[in-house]
Amino acid sequence: MDEVYRLELRNVSKSFGEVNSLRDISFHLGQNEVVGLVGDNGAGKSTLIKIITGYHQPSEGEMYFDGVKVDDLSVPKARELGVETVYQERALAELQTLWRNIFMGREIRTRFGLLDVKKMKQETFRLMNESMGFTSTAVTPDSPIRRFSGGEKQGVAIVRALYFDADIIILDEPTMGLSLHETRKLLEFVRSIKRAGKSAIFIDHNILHVHSVVDRVVVLDRGRVAGEFRTGDISLDELMEKMYRVAETGSLD
Ligand SMILES: Nc1ncnc2c1ncn2[C@@H]1O[C@H](COP(=O)(O)OP(=O)(O)OP(=O)(O)O)[C@@H](O)[C@H]1O
Ligand SMILES: [Mg+2]
Repeated sequence: MDEVYRLELRNVSKSFGEVNSLRDISFHLGQNEVVGLVGDNGAGKSTLIKIITGYHQPSEGEMYFDGVKVDDLSVPKARELGVETVYQERALAELQTLWRNIFMGREIRTRFGLLDVKKMKQETFRLMNESMGFTSTAVTPDSPIRRFSGGEKQGVAIVRALYFDADIIILDEPTMGLSLHETRKLLEFVRSIKRAGKSAIFIDHNILHVHSVVDRVVVLDRGRVAGEFRTGDISLDELMEKMYRVAETGSLD
Protein backbone atom coordinates (compact mmCIF):
# COMPACT_ATOMS: atom_id res chain seq x y z
CA MET A 1 0.00 0.00 0.00
CA ASP A 2 1.23 3.50 -0.77
CA GLU A 3 2.12 5.68 2.17
CA VAL A 4 -0.33 8.51 2.83
CA TYR A 5 1.89 11.53 3.23
CA ARG A 6 1.27 13.95 6.06
CA LEU A 7 1.69 16.69 3.48
CA GLU A 8 2.11 16.69 -0.26
CA LEU A 9 2.52 19.40 -2.89
CA ARG A 10 1.92 18.49 -6.51
CA ASN A 11 3.19 20.67 -9.33
CA VAL A 12 3.11 23.83 -7.27
CA SER A 13 4.27 27.07 -8.86
CA LYS A 14 4.35 30.54 -7.42
CA SER A 15 4.91 33.76 -9.31
CA PHE A 16 5.08 37.29 -8.03
CA GLY A 17 4.42 39.30 -11.18
CA GLU A 18 7.34 38.49 -13.47
CA VAL A 19 9.27 36.57 -10.82
CA ASN A 20 8.80 32.80 -10.84
CA SER A 21 9.80 31.94 -7.30
CA LEU A 22 8.68 28.30 -7.47
CA ARG A 23 8.31 26.21 -10.60
CA ASP A 24 6.50 22.90 -10.74
CA ILE A 25 7.43 21.80 -7.24
CA SER A 26 6.54 18.30 -6.12
CA PHE A 27 7.32 17.81 -2.47
CA HIS A 28 6.15 15.54 0.31
CA LEU A 29 6.57 15.11 4.03
CA GLY A 30 5.92 11.67 5.47
CA GLN A 31 4.34 10.80 8.80
CA ASN A 32 7.01 11.21 11.48
CA GLU A 33 9.57 12.36 8.93
CA VAL A 34 12.00 15.26 9.22
CA VAL A 35 12.91 16.79 5.87
CA GLY A 36 15.68 19.31 5.30
CA LEU A 37 15.18 21.98 2.68
CA VAL A 38 18.42 23.41 1.34
CA GLY A 39 19.47 25.69 -1.48
CA ASP A 40 21.14 29.01 -2.14
CA ASN A 41 19.74 32.42 -1.26
CA GLY A 42 16.64 33.04 -3.29
CA ALA A 43 16.15 29.36 -4.18
CA GLY A 44 12.56 29.52 -2.98
CA LYS A 45 12.75 27.83 0.43
CA SER A 46 10.87 30.49 2.39
CA THR A 47 8.32 30.88 -0.39
CA LEU A 48 7.61 27.15 -0.22
CA ILE A 49 7.18 27.41 3.54
CA LYS A 50 4.82 30.35 3.17
CA ILE A 51 2.66 28.30 0.85
CA ILE A 52 2.54 25.42 3.33
CA THR A 53 1.65 27.79 6.19
CA GLY A 54 -1.16 29.35 4.16
CA TYR A 55 0.54 32.74 3.99
CA HIS A 56 0.82 32.65 0.18
CA GLN A 57 -1.54 30.87 -2.19
CA PRO A 58 0.13 28.89 -4.99
CA SER A 59 -0.30 30.24 -8.53
CA GLU A 60 -0.67 26.67 -9.74
CA GLY A 61 -0.70 23.17 -8.30
CA GLU A 62 -2.33 21.21 -5.53
CA MET A 63 -1.82 20.59 -1.85
CA TYR A 64 -2.83 17.54 0.19
CA PHE A 65 -2.88 16.97 3.94
CA ASP A 66 -3.12 13.27 4.89
CA GLY A 67 -4.12 12.59 1.30
CA VAL A 68 -7.01 15.06 1.35
CA LYS A 69 -6.85 17.90 -1.15
CA VAL A 70 -6.99 21.32 0.49
CA ASP A 71 -7.95 24.37 -1.54
CA ASP A 72 -7.69 27.94 -0.31
CA LEU A 73 -5.33 27.19 2.55
CA SER A 74 -5.13 30.13 4.95
CA VAL A 75 -2.93 30.69 8.00
CA PRO A 76 -5.70 29.71 10.48
CA LYS A 77 -6.63 26.68 8.39
CA ALA A 78 -3.00 25.55 8.22
CA ARG A 79 -2.79 25.85 11.99
CA GLU A 80 -5.96 23.77 12.33
CA LEU A 81 -4.31 21.16 10.14
CA GLY A 82 -1.43 21.03 12.61
CA VAL A 83 1.15 23.31 11.01
CA GLU A 84 3.26 25.45 13.32
CA THR A 85 6.24 27.60 12.34
CA VAL A 86 9.30 28.50 14.36
CA TYR A 87 11.48 31.39 13.23
CA GLN A 88 14.41 32.93 15.00
CA GLU A 89 12.51 36.20 15.14
CA ARG A 90 9.25 34.58 15.97
CA ALA A 91 6.40 36.78 16.98
CA LEU A 92 6.69 36.20 20.69
CA ALA A 93 5.31 39.03 22.78
CA GLU A 94 8.56 40.34 24.23
CA LEU A 95 7.02 42.28 27.07
CA GLN A 96 4.79 39.45 28.23
CA THR A 97 5.75 36.70 30.61
CA LEU A 98 6.72 33.19 29.65
CA TRP A 99 3.43 31.64 30.75
CA ARG A 100 1.37 34.21 28.80
CA ASN A 101 3.41 33.53 25.69
CA ILE A 102 2.90 29.80 25.96
CA PHE A 103 -0.87 30.11 26.26
CA MET A 104 -1.46 33.19 24.13
CA GLY A 105 -4.66 32.80 22.13
CA ARG A 106 -5.29 29.37 23.68
CA GLU A 107 -5.73 30.19 27.35
CA ILE A 108 -6.86 27.60 29.87
CA ARG A 109 -10.08 28.68 31.58
CA THR A 110 -11.87 27.57 34.71
CA ARG A 111 -15.33 26.10 34.37
CA PHE A 112 -16.65 29.58 35.11
CA GLY A 113 -14.90 30.90 32.03
CA LEU A 114 -12.25 32.81 33.94
CA LEU A 115 -8.55 32.59 33.08
CA ASP A 116 -7.00 29.77 35.08
CA VAL A 117 -3.74 31.56 35.79
CA LYS A 118 -2.61 29.09 38.43
CA LYS A 119 -3.03 26.13 36.10
CA MET A 120 -1.28 27.91 33.23
CA LYS A 121 1.70 28.77 35.45
CA GLN A 122 1.88 25.18 36.71
CA GLU A 123 1.80 23.83 33.18
CA THR A 124 4.47 26.33 32.13
CA PHE A 125 6.69 25.20 34.99
CA ARG A 126 6.22 21.58 34.00
CA LEU A 127 6.97 22.30 30.34
CA MET A 128 10.06 24.30 31.25
CA ASN A 129 11.51 21.34 33.06
CA GLU A 130 10.26 18.46 30.98
CA SER A 131 10.34 19.81 27.45
CA MET A 132 12.29 23.02 27.18
CA GLY A 133 15.21 21.82 29.28
CA PHE A 134 15.57 25.25 30.84
CA THR A 135 18.31 25.04 33.38
CA SER A 136 18.80 28.72 34.06
CA THR A 137 17.40 29.51 37.48
CA ALA A 138 16.78 33.05 36.22
CA VAL A 139 13.91 31.74 34.10
CA THR A 140 10.51 31.28 35.78
CA PRO A 141 6.97 31.22 34.37
CA ASP A 142 6.77 34.89 35.32
CA SER A 143 9.94 35.97 33.49
CA PRO A 144 9.36 38.38 30.63
CA ILE A 145 10.39 36.97 27.25
CA ARG A 146 12.58 39.94 26.43
CA ARG A 147 15.16 38.66 28.93
CA PHE A 148 15.45 35.30 27.17
CA SER A 149 18.35 34.35 24.96
CA GLY A 150 17.67 33.55 21.31
CA GLY A 151 17.88 29.85 22.11
CA GLU A 152 15.44 30.13 24.98
CA LYS A 153 12.97 31.97 22.75
CA GLN A 154 13.27 29.16 20.25
CA GLY A 155 12.55 26.71 23.03
CA VAL A 156 9.35 28.55 23.91
CA ALA A 157 8.19 28.54 20.31
CA ILE A 158 8.88 24.85 19.91
CA VAL A 159 7.22 23.89 23.16
CA ARG A 160 4.13 25.81 22.10
CA ALA A 161 4.10 23.85 18.89
CA LEU A 162 4.43 20.52 20.69
CA TYR A 163 2.03 21.34 23.50
CA PHE A 164 -0.75 22.38 21.16
CA ASP A 165 -0.37 19.25 19.12
CA ALA A 166 1.10 20.74 16.01
CA ASP A 167 2.50 17.82 14.11
CA ILE A 168 4.06 19.57 11.13
CA ILE A 169 6.68 21.83 12.64
CA ILE A 170 8.47 24.15 10.28
CA LEU A 171 11.79 25.69 11.21
CA ASP A 172 13.05 28.33 8.77
CA GLU A 173 16.68 29.11 9.61
CA PRO A 174 16.13 28.71 13.32
CA THR A 175 19.84 28.65 14.16
CA MET A 176 20.53 32.06 12.67
CA GLY A 177 22.23 34.20 15.30
CA LEU A 178 22.33 31.47 17.94
CA SER A 179 25.40 30.67 20.01
CA LEU A 180 27.03 27.27 19.65
CA HIS A 181 25.41 26.05 22.82
CA GLU A 182 21.97 27.32 21.80
CA THR A 183 22.40 25.77 18.37
CA ARG A 184 23.10 22.41 19.94
CA LYS A 185 19.95 22.69 22.01
CA LEU A 186 17.95 23.71 18.96
CA LEU A 187 19.18 20.68 17.04
CA GLU A 188 18.27 18.53 20.02
CA PHE A 189 14.76 20.02 19.89
CA VAL A 190 14.46 18.96 16.27
CA ARG A 191 15.45 15.43 17.26
CA SER A 192 12.81 15.52 19.98
CA ILE A 193 10.15 16.40 17.38
CA LYS A 194 11.09 13.21 15.60
CA ARG A 195 11.00 11.20 18.84
CA ALA A 196 7.57 12.64 19.64
CA GLY A 197 6.27 11.04 16.45
CA LYS A 198 5.75 14.32 14.61
CA SER A 199 7.01 15.68 11.31
CA ALA A 200 9.18 18.69 10.56
CA ILE A 201 10.67 20.71 7.75
CA PHE A 202 14.06 22.14 8.66
CA ILE A 203 15.77 24.91 6.71
CA ASP A 204 19.34 25.87 7.47
CA HIS A 205 22.27 27.16 5.42
CA ASN A 206 24.59 25.03 7.51
CA ILE A 207 24.61 21.63 5.82
CA LEU A 208 26.21 20.08 8.90
CA HIS A 209 23.14 21.00 10.95
CA VAL A 210 20.79 19.71 8.29
CA HIS A 211 22.65 16.46 7.80
CA SER A 212 22.71 15.77 11.53
CA VAL A 213 18.96 16.00 12.18
CA VAL A 214 16.96 15.15 9.06
CA ASP A 215 15.84 11.91 7.43
CA ARG A 216 15.85 13.31 3.92
CA VAL A 217 17.24 16.39 2.20
CA VAL A 218 15.47 18.18 -0.65
CA VAL A 219 17.64 20.52 -2.70
CA LEU A 220 16.00 23.57 -4.26
CA ASP A 221 17.66 25.55 -7.00
CA ARG A 222 16.18 28.65 -8.59
CA GLY A 223 12.64 27.64 -7.76
CA ARG A 224 12.94 24.00 -8.80
CA VAL A 225 13.61 20.76 -6.98
CA ALA A 226 17.13 19.84 -8.10
CA GLY A 227 17.25 16.54 -6.23
CA GLU A 228 16.81 14.71 -2.97
CA PHE A 229 18.71 12.30 -0.77
CA ARG A 230 18.12 10.11 2.26
CA THR A 231 20.62 11.21 4.86
CA GLY A 232 21.54 7.60 5.54
CA ASP A 233 22.57 7.15 1.90
CA ILE A 234 24.95 10.10 1.68
CA SER A 235 27.82 11.35 3.79
CA LEU A 236 28.14 14.95 4.83
CA ASP A 237 31.07 15.41 2.43
CA GLU A 238 29.12 13.98 -0.47
CA LEU A 239 26.16 16.20 0.30
CA MET A 240 28.37 19.29 0.44
CA GLU A 241 29.99 18.31 -2.83
CA LYS A 242 26.56 17.99 -4.45
CA MET A 243 25.44 21.34 -3.08
CA TYR A 244 28.45 23.04 -4.65
CA ARG A 245 27.70 21.33 -7.94
CA VAL A 246 24.07 22.49 -7.87
CA ALA A 247 25.12 26.05 -7.13
CA GLU A 248 27.53 25.99 -10.06
CA THR A 249 25.58 24.10 -12.66
CA GLY A 250 21.96 24.04 -11.47
CA SER A 251 22.01 20.28 -11.68
CA LEU A 252 23.06 17.37 -9.51
CA ASP A 253 24.38 15.29 -12.37
N1 LIG B 1 6.60 38.69 -1.95
C1 LIG B 1 7.47 38.58 -2.95
N2 LIG B 1 7.40 39.37 -4.04
C2 LIG B 1 8.28 39.25 -5.04
N3 LIG B 1 9.29 38.36 -5.08
C3 LIG B 1 9.42 37.56 -4.03
C4 LIG B 1 8.52 37.61 -2.90
N4 LIG B 1 8.91 36.67 -2.01
C5 LIG B 1 9.99 36.06 -2.54
N5 LIG B 1 10.30 36.59 -3.74
C6 LIG B 1 11.40 36.16 -4.63
O1 LIG B 1 11.32 34.75 -4.77
C7 LIG B 1 12.62 34.18 -4.79
C8 LIG B 1 12.73 33.13 -3.70
O2 LIG B 1 12.75 33.76 -2.43
P1 LIG B 1 12.77 32.98 -1.05
O3 LIG B 1 12.66 33.98 0.03
O4 LIG B 1 11.77 31.90 -1.12
O5 LIG B 1 14.23 32.35 -1.07
P2 LIG B 1 14.99 31.51 0.04
O6 LIG B 1 15.38 30.22 -0.59
O7 LIG B 1 14.20 31.46 1.28
O8 LIG B 1 16.31 32.37 0.24
P3 LIG B 1 17.18 32.66 1.58
O9 LIG B 1 18.06 31.47 1.74
O10 LIG B 1 17.96 33.87 1.23
O11 LIG B 1 16.23 32.86 2.73
C9 LIG B 1 13.60 35.32 -4.64
O12 LIG B 1 14.06 35.69 -5.92
C10 LIG B 1 12.76 36.42 -4.02
O13 LIG B 1 13.25 37.68 -4.38
MG1 LIG C 1 14.46 32.17 3.24
